[in-house]
Amino acid sequence: MRQAATHKQTVIEVRDLTMRFGQKLVHENINLSVEQGEILAIVGASGSGKSTLLREMVMLQQPSSGSVRVLGQEITRARESEILLTRQRTGVLFQNGALFGGMNVLSNVGTPLREHTRLSDRVIDEIACLKLSLTGLSPADGLLFPNQLSGGMRKRAALARAIALDPELLFLDEPTSGLDPLSADGFDQLILDLKASLGPTIVLVTHDMDSLWQVADMVILLGEARLIANGTMNELAGSKEPAVKRFFQGPRGRAAQASA
Ligand SMILES: Nc1ncnc2c1ncn2[C@@H]1O[C@H](COP(=O)(O)OP(=O)(O)OP(=O)(O)O)[C@@H](O)[C@H]1O
Ligand SMILES: [Mg+2]
Repeated sequence: MRQAATHKQTVIEVRDLTMRFGQKLVHENINLSVEQGEILAIVGASGSGKSTLLREMVMLQQPSSGSVRVLGQEITRARESEILLTRQRTGVLFQNGALFGGMNVLSNVGTPLREHTRLSDRVIDEIACLKLSLTGLSPADGLLFPNQLSGGMRKRAALARAIALDPELLFLDEPTSGLDPLSADGFDQLILDLKASLGPTIVLVTHDMDSLWQVADMVILLGEARLIANGTMNELAGSKEPAVKRFFQGPRGRAAQASA
């Protein structure tokens, strides 16, 4: 988002991105970039197109027009075989967790390793166990099936799967929604720990004002089918623009700022 003050690499570059479903315009001419190691948060009202934008950046949704460069590769309209390497370098936590119901947690976490590596089952299980412990789950939790997990455990399992391949780029769609405040705080800390250890670039969709203050380096606000604002939390919380004020300076926004 910043101009080239440092020599960091630009990991994501979105240019003039427009998305329509039939007559419905989700967003128009979105421009943004994310630099290596940065945590970018995407915020906006429900239905403002946050998940759609994320799906366009993870190569699961074809935009109507515009371009998306991820890790140096133009991904819009690329064939599946062409984006395989980029996909391997990317982890995703979907809004609903999207765990496979027919397999236990350990197998879920091992799925990207089975898809993208030739490691043996034993090594895959060992790595999956390690990822579980990184996200605060025990080996015993690994034997449970998704329908036996609490909401918070599901998020942790989904995060463990998203980081299975030590991705350079991590997409998290509402990782703290539905969690109690303590668990949500724990999740924020987890993201910060991850940033400190593996140092991935992270794109995070969230409604959680506390999370924004805790983890976001840069924030973009979507609304009215466009990018309304971008900046740091301090910049956005101090904005005079009515749409930005409504979002960041309501009672929840102020409470979160006070405790940040
Ligand atoms: N595959 C699809 N076909 C048709 N319309 C879609 C499709 N996916 C999303 N939409 C529409 O795009 C708009 C944005 O949806 P999206 O899920 O991106 O919103 P969001 O900002 O993530 O909302 P929330 O905060 O509730 O998760 C909605 O009006 C939705 O109905
Ligand atoms: Mg969404």
